[in-house]
Amino acid sequence: MPEQHLLPRHIGLIMDGNGRWAKKRGLPRKAGHKAGAKTFKKIVRYCNQIGVPYLTVYAFSTENWSRPQEEVDGIIRLLRDFLADASNYRDENIRTRFVGDISVFDSDIQRKIAECEEVSASHTGLTLNIAINYGGRDEILCAARRLAAEAAVGKRLPETITAEDFSEQLYTAGEPDVDLIIRPSGEQRLSNFLLWQAAYAEYIFLDTLWPDFDEACMDRVLEEYASRNRRFGGV
Ligand code: FPP
Repeated sequence: MPEQHLLPRHIGLIMDGNGRWAKKRGLPRKAGHKAGAKTFKKIVRYCNQIGVPYLTVYAFSTENWSRPQEEVDGIIRLLRDFLADASNYRDENIRTRFVGDISVFDSDIQRKIAECEEVSASHTGLTLNIAINYGGRDEILCAARRLAAEAAVGKRLPETITAEDFSEQLYTAGEPDVDLIIRPSGEQRLSNFLLWQAAYAEYIFLDTLWPDFDEACMDRVLEEYASRNRRFGGV
């Protein structure tokens, strides 16, 4: 485990490979997501324990609605389970937020999300962002539209809009940029995740399927991250 100052401040995590994990075992895809949700809880706890300040996990993208209804229902059920169980994190000082357009979810889910964010708002440990119905392009478009609307009514001068102003319009407003993107399962893509926030991120891909990802995998990833020399375009 690297020293604290060599840890990323913000990790983006793509929880990929649940389907293949299930297929290998002759199980339905939703069983893979269930196993993935268990791993998710474990890794969130671990990140909090070791002192990672921000973690954003990709739980459901704007594109995932096109999956078979049964699979979508399975993931929504896991979201409901998490929300029912969110008090688990209460004693762990984790601050939970949701990023994405949550207005499409049933009102009971939206209510629970608000509750979950509220009870943990003052927590000072890990900030956990759970991305649901999230898409990076959508997020950027919404930000651009809001700034354009303000410019149109004379509240802003277009030429004075800064990158910081733009960041403040994103779901992750007030949070640091992403330092590290982790994607297990062998795929090497960003898949519309944190497009703006990951502009200078390091990318670490590994072959492990998400349900098999554990604390030792995280340690290896963090060692690799710590060994990279980040120059932000300088020399
Ligand atoms: C990608 O694997 C994974 C998802 C689309 C869903 C991720 C969701 C969870 C891990 C659990 C949900 C947790 C909460 C809190 C709601 P894939 O299905 O694309 O895997 P494959 O590439 O092997 O098919």
